[in-house]
Amino acid sequence: MEIKSYLIGPFTQLLSMDKLPVKGALRDAQLEIIQHAGIWVEDGVIRQVGDFKRLRDAVPADLEIVYINYNAVLLPGYIDCHTHIAFGGSRPNDFALRNSGSSYLDIAAAAGGIWSTVSHTRALTEDELAAITVKHSLKLVQQGVTTIEVKSGYGLTVAEELKILRAIKKANAGTSADLIATCLAAHMCPKDFNGSPEEYLADIAALLFPQLIEQQLTHRIDAFIEKSAFTAEQIRPYLRKAQALGFDITIHADQFTAGSSIVAVDFNARSADHLEASTDREIHCLANSDTVAVALPAASLGLGDRFTPARRLLDAGAALAIASDWNPGSAPMGQLMTSAAILAAQQKLSNAEVLAALTFRPACALGLNDRGRIVRGMKADFMLYATDNYQDITYLQGALQPQEVWKNGVQVFTKNKIL
Ligand code: NIG
Ligand code: FE
Repeated sequence: MEIKSYLIGPFTQLLSMDKLPVKGALRDAQLEIIQHAGIWVEDGVIRQVGDFKRLRDAVPADLEIVYINYNAVLLPGYIDCHTHIAFGGSRPNDFALRNSGSSYLDIAAAAGGIWSTVSHTRALTEDELAAITVKHSLKLVQQGVTTIEVKSGYGLTVAEELKILRAIKKANAGTSADLIATCLAAHMCPKDFNGSPEEYLADIAALLFPQLIEQQLTHRIDAFIEKSAFTAEQIRPYLRKAQALGFDITIHADQFTAGSSIVAVDFNARSADHLEASTDREIHCLANSDTVAVALPAASLGLGDRFTPARRLLDAGAALAIASDWNPGSAPMGQLMTSAAILAAQQKLSNAEVLAALTFRPACALGLNDRGRIVRGMKADFMLYATDNYQDITYLQGALQPQEVWKNGVQVFTKNKIL
């Protein structure tokens, strides 16, 4: 049986992420770093954090002690709040086409892009798709990710979107990370739909939304507002219907064209994601809202496009999260820390800002208040890097990977071995 109650340590450095605000710029001096630290875990939840020796004296004499006998930096498990990892096929030719002059929007207009992944994903059974999703999720677990948002959006019919969301639910039961599903039926108007984009969205709202609730598949609705997808005017009634049914909203906003993050804020969305094209107006609007701004640097890298203005967002007072956006088109790398560290170098982000953007800030974007910090009462989701200096994590730009990963107090990964 797995032990879920124990004292674990000592850790050379424990970064609790405690007491840091959800919004605005952060300095590294604000990080709480506990040296020679330990964690008392009880039934998969953090009971106490502090000096290892003092904890060892305080805990019950029969409590299991898990000794860490190497230099280790402990952090909360990362939360990847924007992925599309439930997909079929791959699109290396899109990358080649873009690098020889075509744009993402050109490829989308020529029936490549999202639409080609829709065909590959429709061809899979629910079980096949669940297996792919598990495989992708485990690659993220090895990077220290313990909570993963996963979008549908490659089905684009009621039945196919249901299939993807059921596959995500199945994958959640078969992987060590928590998968948080989001319905992205509004990814684009399917090319085989016999009607207008408005009619497609009305059909989805009428026929799919009630099923999502009935089958308990997701409480989150996403929409892509962009030239190749939907206009703000088309999306507003769709979001109103979603909100009336109690769904949380998140938006693919300002990727190539500015403006749609303002729609996200109007709907009090949990997050507005992408934001590469955001101008001062959108930045100001996000900073004055509770909507989390999500940067997706792997998409900037995959597309060879500009980066989200993360520095300006933070300085204006916004909450910034960073996610992998892992998908077969714009962001195929699936390497969260590599992309985050590159964004940090480009945008001049402090370590505190990067680590906040991967822990308690994305927890907010997902509406989760039980994870993202190493404090009493939170889930015992954490990872250990084999180093004595937390600065190595961003400095090595993803080359330093966690030595071990723990989820709900259980070890789910040690290097070179998935448990
Ligand atoms: O977040 N921008 C829209 N959606 C995805 C890309 C999906 C795809 O190209 O397959 C994104 O980058
Ligand atoms: Fe995306």
